[in-house]
Amino acid sequence: MTAQNPIFCAIDTTDTARAAMLAQSLKGTVGGLKVGMEFFNAHGHDGFRAVAKAGLPVFLDLKLHDIPNTVAGGIRAVLPLKPAIVNVHAAGGLAMMKAAADAAKEAGPDRPLIIAVTMLTSLDASDLADTGVTGTPADHVLRLAHLAARAGLDGIVCSAHEIAALRREMNPEFKLIVPGIRPAGADIADQKRIMTPPEALALGADVLVIGRPITGAANPHDAAAAITASLAA
Ligand code: C5P
Repeated sequence: MTAQNPIFCAIDTTDTARAAMLAQSLKGTVGGLKVGMEFFNAHGHDGFRAVAKAGLPVFLDLKLHDIPNTVAGGIRAVLPLKPAIVNVHAAGGLAMMKAAADAAKEAGPDRPLIIAVTMLTSLDASDLADTGVTGTPADHVLRLAHLAARAGLDGIVCSAHEIAALRREMNPEFKLIVPGIRPAGADIADQKRIMTPPEALALGADVLVIGRPITGAANPHDAAAAITASLAA
């Protein structure tokens, strides 16, 4: 799925026509697309289909976090869309993640990968302490990664700065999905801990989630093609 091109472009908009146009224009330059709660809460299954029509794999970024039965139901409800990836919060615990993985298996060989969000990149050590979690963010991410692996999940979302430690500890098949990626010289916007695409790939990322450097460019197709070319260099 991602072997040829690890870039998934984050389409964060509520405008269906723009999302569909972006999806079409990015065909051949990215490996997949990501739609999250902003787009999915506005347009649901019809919106997803409008984006998926371009034929690229779609990561449905729902970040589910609820009791196991409810999360399993939430996963089952999106299986007919055939998303390539769906995610849950690792903080929901072992039983919740197992329930998500089991629900996904009901789709058979075409099942989505189920991955866990470890620690949001918008949080720092003091935010973590405020929620009662002691220890460093890196320790917390590693602990949650091991919990996700025990639950049978396919991988996690993490910041680029945690890739090296995770690659040392986790099985090579365990997928690392990495947002906060910026080409050299790009506007970093609200992302704090960034890395360039070639750096994150060299450390062992499987999927690079890149949004505004592509969607905010005058020509998104050319911007995506330039990032893809930088990976081959
Ligand atoms: O535009 P940008 O490249 O910053 O988009 C990054 C995407 O990755 C957004 O859709 C954002 O919601 C998502 N994301 C993130 N940090 C996380 C988890 C997801 O930036 N920890």
